[in-house]
Amino acid sequence: MNGFLHTLGFVVFPYIALTVFVFGHAWRYVTDWKRWNAASSQFLHKDSIKGGITIFHWGALLTLLGHAGGMLIPQRIYDVFGVNAAAHNFMAHWAGLVAGMLMVPGVIWLLVRRIRQDRIAANTPVHDYILLGMLLVVSGLGLYNVVFTHYDVLYSVAPWIRSIVILAPQPDLMAPVPVSYKLHIITALVLLGYSPFTRLVHIWSAPVTYLYRSYVIFRKSPGTKGA
Ligand code: HEM
Repeated sequence: MNGFLHTLGFVVFPYIALTVFVFGHAWRYVTDWKRWNAASSQFLHKDSIKGGITIFHWGALLTLLGHAGGMLIPQRIYDVFGVNAAAHNFMAHWAGLVAGMLMVPGVIWLLVRRIRQDRIAANTPVHDYILLGMLLVVSGLGLYNVVFTHYDVLYSVAPWIRSIVILAPQPDLMAPVPVSYKLHIITALVLLGYSPFTRLVHIWSAPVTYLYRSYVIFRKSPGTKGA
């Protein structure tokens, strides 16, 4: 990769994607809040979604947590807690494998369901196919890297991501990284920039308060049939 393309891919493009991500969400929230949801399709065909949506979500959540915990926290912090680079890589490998083995078949399931069920297909706009296709490409490349490439990202990709986050980009860190990792990163950035305009916005409205809110008490009013 020549110098110009490298800077474009690992300095300019990440900031474009992140800017679209942040302002895109704000814009969508203000202008389109009525469609800020997961656009559930259960009522169109219930049985076909169960297994796929479950394994896909477990894989996706594990992936998000793994990337955040493994990449954003520097190795020196792990060292303080006695987790050396070898142990970190071991955990990342197995967690990545589990996440990928859940997410990739899950997203294929969701895609096939949308294509094969007539009622679902009739209610699937093209951008839903694009979204599922992009999720498949990004997670597929991630799984490919875990299974076949085994590159040590702790002192390359991870510090590069942190350099982007703290606005002091160090694209040189990405120079020796294998192409399959670079493709995973670039496609993930495209997905990040596309996400505010899709049903992925529901991630930010996860009903976490359900975990600690008080119970909703239902009382039958006197005279209700069957009371
Ligand atoms: C944060 C917690 C999350 C919650 C509570 C949640 C909840 C839901 C719900 C209720 C649906 C609708 C299922 C149906 O059709 O009935 C859905 C669909 C979906 N979710 Fe999530 N989700 C979460 C995180 C994620 C994440 C992290 C991703 C991907 C990165 C994701 C991607 C999707 C996709 C692509 C669909 C549409 C699947 C389809 O209908 O083809 N979700 N989610």
